[in-house]
Parts: sequence; structure tokens; C-alpha cells
Amino acid sequence: MEEKRNGLRVILFPLPLQGCINPMIQLANILHSRGFSITVIHTRFNAPKASSHPLFTFLQISDGLSETQTKDDVMSLLAQININAESPFRDCLRELLLESKESERVSCLIDDCGWLFTQTVAESLNLPRLVLCTFKATFFNAYPSLPLIRTKGYLPVSDSEAEDSVPEFPPLQKRDLSKVFGEFGEKLDPFLHAVVETTMSSSGLIFMSCEELEKDSLTIANEIFEVPIFAIGPFHSYFSASSSSLFTQDETCIPWLGNQKDKSVIYVSLGSVVNITETEFLEIACGLSNSKQSFLWVVRPGSVLGAKWIEPLSEGLVRSLEEKGKIVKWAPQQEVLAHRAIGGFLTHNGWNSTLESICEGVPMICLPGGWDQMLNSRFVSDIWKVGIHLEGRIEQKEIEKAVRMLMEENEGEKIRERMKVLKDEVEKSVKLGGSSFQSIETLANHILLL
Ligand code: UDX
Repeated sequence: MEEKRNGLRVILFPLPLQGCINPMIQLANILHSRGFSITVIHTRFNAPKASSHPLFTFLQISDGLSETQTKDDVMSLLAQININAESPFRDCLRELLLESKESERVSCLIDDCGWLFTQTVAESLNLPRLVLCTFKATFFNAYPSLPLIRTKGYLPVSDSEAEDSVPEFPPLQKRDLSKVFGEFGEKLDPFLHAVVETTMSSSGLIFMSCEELEKDSLTIANEIFEVPIFAIGPFHSYFSASSSSLFTQDETCIPWLGNQKDKSVIYVSLGSVVNITETEFLEIACGLSNSKQSFLWVVRPGSVLGAKWIEPLSEGLVRSLEEKGKIVKWAPQQEVLAHRAIGGFLTHNGWNSTLESICEGVPMICLPGGWDQMLNSRFVSDIWKVGIHLEGRIEQKEIEKAVRMLMEENEGEKIRERMKVLKDEVEKSVKLGGSSFQSIETLANHILLL
């Protein structure tokens, strides 16, 4: 039954990336179920599908990006829209506040930690702002110290030190650092600084996470950012991430999975941003084929550098892949992970994918591409021990070995058992009386009092 509206409207403003839109729409659903009316302001680029969410109001603003412009470099894209969207966003928000009725007051703005101008805009309009962080809290806590870690002289890493923990950032290993920073180096520093400053000036910080996964990090986040912290996830089993998909999902995955045995299929997907080289793509293809396991493989068009889709595969390789597997352009990931036929997930460990895998109790093979994924994968393999880390070896033999180990061997069974325990723990957090359930109550009250 529809919960009674409380006379307050919350404005949400996601970053236009799939991994940021999904948790924002989940937050919208959570707040709506708590009686808040929802308006989502969004850019034209990667606009969420309004028709999938009839309960919310959607308002599009200009982002100044041209149709033909390449959007592959996420950092440049974010830098550019952070400049282009400021003025349209200010105008849109001002208008919303002017139109705001006595009977339905706009109570606050909640936007992604990656927007750099929103705190100033909200302050200038006397509107409280809360921040949604789409990363694990442990990663976000490192934002203030990342510039220092970069200059500590850990890079380049020698073989003897590669597996050492980064003292300021456990359980990250020194060999992970180069992929955390990518090619950006010191260019990241002003961005990190701005994110930290604007978060510290906000009225609260929300994580799609829970105490069961990172109680200590949530306490530390409170000490670092000095604002109220709300860990309100993972609510995937209540509000599916697939409902906010930007791409067309290949629904034939589900009947195909229906013809497979229980826990016999490995699902392979590297999310919405990671790209790989043609050589890496072919190594994964041969690894999967040689493993003789059934697989469902998402190859996002354009994600293999220099190729449109899967044309680098020879006809012979396609034939051998088709014996045991299915390749699609985009899948209804959450439904796939929840399917009884899925036994493992070869993933880039984006925070959404990692959470979705935990929620469905699916053990992982970790192939992180960069940034927060490096840390998420360490938690999966080294702390929670619910996955096998490929350690960046995109080689057919390594992939075949890891897939067989997870799907067929004793070690895989032990990993599966540990994942079951973790899933049960995390599930408790969103049930009545659980940590995330209570945090949602606290967040709703916090917004009511703003
Ligand atoms: C990126 C970062 O990697 C992530 O850590 C950060 O939190 C947000 O930005 P992305 O690389 O896209 O996100 O990965 P991920 O966080 O896993 O999000 C991908 C989303 O797309 C998931 O919710 C997943 O369910 C969905 N998805 C993916 C599909 O619906 N279908 C697919 O075929 C693949």
C-alpha cells in the first residue's frame, strides 16, 4: 500500500553514469516509500528513463555536450559537465524553489559526491544539501589522503613489495596503486580536495552500504567529514537496480538461464565504464571456452577498444563459445545474479556489482579495472574471502583456472559457503530492526527536521 505523503519534496541530482544513477534511483524509491515526493534533475546525456519511474518527476537540464563528442574518458567528461551544468542547474533549482508550494515544501537536495558546484548553489538558495556517495565508505575515506599516498614514493612498486599493504589504506596492496591513480596523477588533487570540502560543508553523507560490511569505516567517515552519516543499503532485493538501466537489456538471458542446471553458469560482466584491449578480450574468450563451463557474457558495445562489438572473435572461436555460452550486449544484471542457474560472477568489482553479487550470494572472480574497484576486490578476496582475485592477469590459462576452481573444486565450495554467511548477515541489515533499516528511519527524520 502507498505510504502517506509527508508534504515534503526531495530533489535528487545523479551523475550521468550507470553506476551512479542506479543507487540514486534506489534512494529515490526508499525516500518515496517513506512519504517524500521526489524530483530528479538530470542531464540530457545518459538521461534516466522517466517512463520507468512514474512516481517521480523528472526535469532535464542542458549539459553542453554535443551528440558526436566521445564520452569514453570519464574523468574528462565529469570535469566538463561540472562546468557546463552549473548554470542550468542553478536556474532549474531556483525555479523549483519559487514554485514550491506551502503544501509541499522542497526540503533538501541530495546529489552525487562527484558534483562539485552543487554545495555552493544550494547554499546560495538556502537549501540544505546531502551527499550520496556511490563508493564503499572505506574508499571515500581515503579521498583526503590520496594525494599524500601518491607522493609517498610507493610507485613504481618493486616485486618484493608488490603484495605489501599500503599502510595508510589497508587492505589495498602497493601493486594496486598504479591502477587507483591511472594516468591522472596530480591532476586528481583539486578534484579530490573539492569533493572533500563540499562534503564537509553538507548536511549529511549517505552510503549505499551497511554496518555489516564496514562498521569501522562508517565511524571513520563520521570523524573525517564531520557530518551525520547514513548507511542505508543494500536495498537491491526491494528496489531492483535493473529498473534504471540506461541500455536495452537482453531479456533472452532469463529463458536461456532457465535451461541451465543450478549454479552451473558463470556470469561475466565488466560494468558500464571499463574497457579492455582486443588481446585481453580474446584471452577472456579462450579462457571461458577452455574452462568448459557454461557462461553468460556481457560484452558492452564499444568496450573492446577498436571494435564495435565482438567482431575480433574468429568464426571458429564463436562456434566453440556458443557450445556452452551466450554473449549479450547488456543484461538485466540483478535478475541474472538472482537466477538459480548462476554459480559465479567474473566482475570488475564496481561497488554496485559487488553489492548485487553479495545480495544474491554469488561468489566472485575479481578483475578490477581501476579506481575504487581495486579496493572493493581486495575486500572480496582478502577480507571477506568470497572471491578469487585474478591479480590483473588477463590470460586464458589464469581465467580457465579461476573459473574451474570457483565452479568445480573444493576451494570454490568453501568460498560459496562463506558467501552464504555474508549474504545472510547483509540481508539482516535491511530487515526490520537491522542497521540499514534503522539508518533509513534516522535519515528520514533528519530530512524532516532540516
Ligand atoms: C562505476 C564504478 O566502478 C563504481 O564502483 C561506482 O560505484 C560507480 O561508477 P560501473 O563501472 O558501471 O560503476 O560498475 P557498477 O558499480 O558495478 O555499476 C554497474 C551497474 O550496471 C550495476 O548496477 C549493474 O547491475 C548494472 N548492469 C551492468 C546491468 O544492469 N547490466 C549489465 O549488463 C551490466
